[in-house]
Amino acid sequence: MYILCSLDAIEPNSSKGFQSPLGPIFAVKKKKKVFLYANECPHMGINLEWVPDQFLDSSKQLIQCALHGAQFLIKTGECIYGPCKGKALRPIPYEINNNNEICLHITTETQVEA
Ligand code: FES
Repeated sequence: MYILCSLDAIEPNSSKGFQSPLGPIFAVKKKKKVFLYANECPHMGINLEWVPDQFLDSSKQLIQCALHGAQFLIKTGECIYGPCKGKALRPIPYEINNNNEICLHITTETQVEA
């Protein structure tokens, strides 16, 4: 298990980027629920954000790629608008431990070489 951060480190209705053993990922907290995705736009495989920790559109209802404006559902990662419509962000499985921390499942096969 890899401890990513405390659940409280992410403000409600906001997003946060991380470097992790799985590569760059980001979290979105909607109300009290957290969604984790690989920071990799399905359009061109690049990071979604230009400004650190800003992965949401101005309404904070959708995830948005800064390069060509693709928009994704927060709950499923499905792209509903833009050049990769119909594709989806890759979800990152996690669990919350007893200390209220977000933990990733890490195996040697899933680690990304630094
Ligand atoms: S790289 Fe994300 S929409 Fe083009």
